[in-house]
Amino acid sequence: MKQRSLFLKLLFLNFLLLAGIIGLSGWVASADANPFNKGAKLCEECHEAEFKIWKNTKHFESFRTVHREPKDKSKPSPKKILEAVEGEKRMKRNKACSLCHYTLEQKDADDKPDAGSGTSCESCHGPSSEWLEIHDNYGGKDVKRDQESADHKVKRIADSKAKGLIWPSMKYEVAENCMVCHGLAHPELTADELAKMLGAGHPINPDFELVKYSQGSVRHRYYPPNIKENAEMTPAELSREYVVGQAAALVSATNAMSKSEDPKYKAAQEQRVANAKAGLSGVPEAAGLLAAPTRENALKFAADIAGKDLSGVVKLPAKSDYK
Ligand code: HEC
Ligand code: HEC
Ligand code: HEC
Ligand code: HEC
Repeated sequence: MKQRSLFLKLLFLNFLLLAGIIGLSGWVASADANPFNKGAKLCEECHEAEFKIWKNTKHFESFRTVHREPKDKSKPSPKKILEAVEGEKRMKRNKACSLCHYTLEQKDADDKPDAGSGTSCESCHGPSSEWLEIHDNYGGKDVKRDQESADHKVKRIADSKAKGLIWPSMKYEVAENCMVCHGLAHPELTADELAKMLGAGHPINPDFELVKYSQGSVRHRYYPPNIKENAEMTPAELSREYVVGQAAALVSATNAMSKSEDPKYKAAQEQRVANAKAGLSGVPEAAGLLAAPTRENALKFAADIAGKDLSGVVKLPAKSDYK
């Protein structure tokens, strides 16, 4: 009898210990919980100029328009596309559509995410819940930008990157992120699901090219010291943007192509591969990437061309074609 109660006691202690460990790991995990979107409204407070630009883009406007059935029957029908996928039959409530068309926002971690706007700041710069407080903190409440120590700056940039901020300086990662949506290649959807959408009339644009699509309505480049000027890129900057965009398209399309047997989806991705290869032809630094289009090689390529002027090597799109 005595032995049994000792056994039970030990069992109980074990249970407490285990519960403690699980509880603790749960707590550690939740401190690093899935980052979520806080919404563009919050960014406006400090990034007014960027917000104004965004409000004049299709990414913003689309929130009010894209779910509506077009009168012109030759245009893509949201209803038909929704029929091809699982889940809710209303676009703003369908998980698949939300991944690319909307920003699912939450006030805090326990909040139910809700489509608050179209594609927005956090779609391109990363969900901000974990990096927001870090990215603009120069080392304490009273420390101003020009008082920040060099060490602190390095740490601030690295820490917010680790928490999911895609800094504008991370050229390849920024471009790669456009391709997730514009290449119809979202990692949270299977190639089969994406192919079904395509089959139901969802558009894909193999001519999505980074300079053309980022330097028109979307462009916001208010960098110090001229923070009031939305600066245009120099030809050298444009040439790097162009090849980095092609590198990201090449990797995205090569991966997408290998995942599907659907003829239409495969053909669209093949076209993206062909366009990207044409865009990179004649760029000496791209040889390794063209031979083996992996993400690793693309990142290496982006590092190799940093600071170079390739405007004599690539054919840039005409300004009048910017979107
Ligand atoms: C309380 C003010 C504040 C809020 C709110 C805020 N930011 Fe910032 N943000 C700043 C400051 C200040 C900087 C400049 C940091 C630096 O000097 O590197 C910055 C920098 C950035 C940068 C990098 C700019 C560069 O030059 O590389 C991005 C991107 C950015 N913020 C996005 C956002 C987004 C998206 C939101 C909303 C989710 C947001 N910020 C909310 C103050 C803010
Ligand atoms: C992988 C990202 C992605 C997903 C998922 C996605 N879309 Fe799209 N959708 C896009 C992009 C990018 C465009 C713009 C394509 C273009 O015109 O080049 C677009 C365009 C559209 C258009 C045409 C809009 C117009 O202006 O003509 C409709 C309609 C549409 N999507 C419906 C849906 C529906 C319904 C779902 C959910 C079942 C969905 N999409 C899921 C990325 C996506
Ligand atoms: C379609 C993707 C996209 C969206 C949406 C977007 N950005 Fe950006 N953002 C970029 C890119 C690309 C750059 C890099 C610009 C460059 O350096 O050429 C950038 C640069 C920036 C910068 C640094 C340049 C500057 O203007 O100071 C800030 C800050 C910034 N974004 C904040 C925001 C905020 C705030 C929003 C929402 C109101 C937003 N972005 C929406 C893609 C986007
Ligand atoms: C989260 C998904 C997503 C990301 C990331 C994204 N976009 Fe988009 N973008 C869309 C969707 C969806 C549309 C189409 C909206 C519609 O037609 O209603 C669109 C439309 C556009 C348009 C308007 C095209 C036209 O024909 O008028 C431009 C320009 C654009 N995106 C540029 C960019 C660039 C550049 C980047 C990266 C810096 C980017 N987008 C990142 C989802 C995204």
